[in-house]
Amino acid sequence: MKTEWSYPIHRLRRLRRTESIRSMVRETTLTVDNLMAPIFVREGIDNVEPIESMPGIFRYPVDKVNDAIARMQKSGIKSFLLFGVPRTKDALGTQAYSENGVIVRAIERIKKEYPAVILAADVCLCEYTSHGHCGIVKNGSVDNDLTLPLLAKAAVSYAQAGADIVAPSAMMDHQVGTIRNALDDSDLKDCLIMGYSAKFASCFYGPFREAAGSRPEFGDREGYQMDFRNPKQAMREIATDINEGADIVMVKPALAYLDIIYQASKRFDVPIAAYNVSGEYSMLKAAAANGWLDEKKAIVETTMAIRRAGAGIVISYFAEQLAKWIGGVE
Ligand code: PBG
Repeated sequence: MKTEWSYPIHRLRRLRRTESIRSMVRETTLTVDNLMAPIFVREGIDNVEPIESMPGIFRYPVDKVNDAIARMQKSGIKSFLLFGVPRTKDALGTQAYSENGVIVRAIERIKKEYPAVILAADVCLCEYTSHGHCGIVKNGSVDNDLTLPLLAKAAVSYAQAGADIVAPSAMMDHQVGTIRNALDDSDLKDCLIMGYSAKFASCFYGPFREAAGSRPEFGDREGYQMDFRNPKQAMREIATDINEGADIVMVKPALAYLDIIYQASKRFDVPIAAYNVSGEYSMLKAAAANGWLDEKKAIVETTMAIRRAGAGIVISYFAEQLAKWIGGVE
C-alpha cells in the first residue's frame, strides 16, 4: 500500500553529503586562539617530572619552563595558565605572595624570552598552605576576610612580574573586587582578571591535587566551592564577579557542566572560559590507553562540545595535542 505523505521529505542529508559541504555549514569551530594550556612549575627540582595521574603532563623546574613554552608556542598556542608548587608550605601560604616565589620567578623568566605570550597566573593558596586549604584556617574553617588581602597580595606580585591575567580560584567572596582594587592601587590597571566564577566542589580535581600537592589535610572544600546541584547560584556567582570587575568569567569543570557554560554564554556579555579539568583529562586518557576510546576523536568531540556550549576560551591539558591536529601535524 502506498503511503500518502502530507508533507515534503526534508532532505537534511543534503547538508552532509560531502566533506566540503559539511565543513561549509559547520556551526562550531576550534582554533589555537581558543586554547589556553595549564603549566605546572615546581620549585626545588632539577628535572622535568611526569605527573603519574596525568599521562603526558609534567612539572617543570623554573629554569626549564621555557622549554614547555617554546614547544607549545611552536604548535601555535599563545596563552598559558601557570600553577606553582613551592618548596616549603606554611599555614599562611606565604610562598604564594612572596617576592621571590616560584610563580613570580616563572613569569619573569617566560616574559623575558617570550614577551608576546599571554600569561595567566592562578591565584589561590591551596598549593602553598601546609593544610592544603584555599585560605587562612581559623577555628577549623577557612576565614573569608582574612584570606582576601593575601590573595590580593599574590595577584599584585604576579601582575608586577608581568602576568597579563590573574585568575583567582579560591572561591572567597569578594576576591575579584579586592584584587581589582589592589591592582588599581598598584598602578596595574591593565591586568585582566579571569574569575574562577562558577567553580564547583568536584571530584574531577583529583589528579590536579596530586600534581600540585594541594589535597586538603582535613575536611573538604564544600564550604567555599559550589554545590554542583546549583545552576542558579552559579549565575549569581558569575554576575557578582562581573560586577566586581572580572573581565573574563570561568566555569569549572567543563564536561559535566555544559549546561552552566551554555546558560552563562546566553546570559552574560563577557568572554566565557571553561576549564576542562584534570580528572576529565585523565579519564579520557585512561580509556584511550586501554583502547576503549579513539583518543583523537574523543578529545576533539569533547572539546567541540565545550565550544558548542558557548565557551570562547577552553583551558585544556589537551591544548598541545589539539594544536598539533589543528595545524595538521600528527
Ligand atoms: C586551585 C585550583 C584547583 C584547580 C585549579 N585551581 C584545585 C582545587 O580547587 O582543588 C583544579 C584544576 C584541575 O583539576 O585541573 N584552587
